[in-house]
Amino acid sequence: MILCRTIAELKNELYKIKHSNDQATIGLVPTMGFLHEGHASLMRQSAAENTASVLSIFVNPMQFGPNEDFDRYPRDEERDLAIAQANGIDLVFMPEVKEMYPAKPRTSVIVSQLTERLCGASRPGHFDGVGLVVSKLFHLVQPDRAYFGMKDAQQLAVIQQMTDDLNFPVEIRPCPIVREPDGLALSSRNVYLSAEQRQQAVVLSQSLASAKEWVAEQGMTPEELLSRVKAKISEAGQAEIDYVEWLAYPSLELPAWNEPIAEHRGKYILALAVKFGATRLIDNSLFVTNEEVYNHV
Ligand code: PAJ
Repeated sequence: MILCRTIAELKNELYKIKHSNDQATIGLVPTMGFLHEGHASLMRQSAAENTASVLSIFVNPMQFGPNEDFDRYPRDEERDLAIAQANGIDLVFMPEVKEMYPAKPRTSVIVSQLTERLCGASRPGHFDGVGLVVSKLFHLVQPDRAYFGMKDAQQLAVIQQMTDDLNFPVEIRPCPIVREPDGLALSSRNVYLSAEQRQQAVVLSQSLASAKEWVAEQGMTPEELLSRVKAKISEAGQAEIDYVEWLAYPSLELPAWNEPIAEHRGKYILALAVKFGATRLIDNSLFVTNEEVYNHV
């Protein structure tokens, strides 16, 4: 496995891969590091589908708000490299901030509409930063395929839209959510949780599991579903709800509010963001005409 810290090194190594085999396909797994089994599952899928896999590890300041956790975002370089090596990565790109942003960028990548609700509403500018850094990574690595987790379902929808709108020659590959045995979705931010908050955090996946039963109930409307989910989450003493939404996916449009869910056709997402103290966790479940896909909690 090769480690590149500069763009020049990255380009040089990619040139070698592409010119030693003109059929070579490149997979890209963009991350912010502090890797866990969720990231590892993306790496393994990339390794299985491509000649060579590139992992980027970059805590992107452009996607953090002024009061967010950029400075204290967890980092562990040595452990990350061991995980990358064990999961089929050929090349790790781990640049410094000044390598990616030698000067303040004056170009924005703004995906409209899809970024108006959910995390886009709670974290203004967040997806502009994601769009910018992922565009740069796509140009630098020129991957054939790029791997994104359904854990960040809105991010995946935004990246797919950006890829389509800007004709990036990249196939976006969605990957299922990886969970702890008790259902909590893996996240680099889970380390922030106290023991008590960690216990209470299972309420996220539990409420998604309950919702799976509730959507099948006769006459269940989105309004009723959301109030039940919110009530369930509120049973966890330290939980502070940021949002709970039921939206069409991947358009993220509001469905008919008073119409029974049983009459909805297509793909829907139940998405949550809940704070435990200063730690904000997200989770979601996808439903296709009432049948849950992707996540099995
Ligand atoms: P990060 O939070 O490190 O996540 C990197 C990738 O891992 C994302 O595609 C995310 O959806 C996926 N992932 C995280 N937890 C997962 C889980 N439990 N199961 C499956 N996949 C999971 O998302 C980002 O970084 C950044 O916004 C990035 C795209 C790298 C741009 O900076």
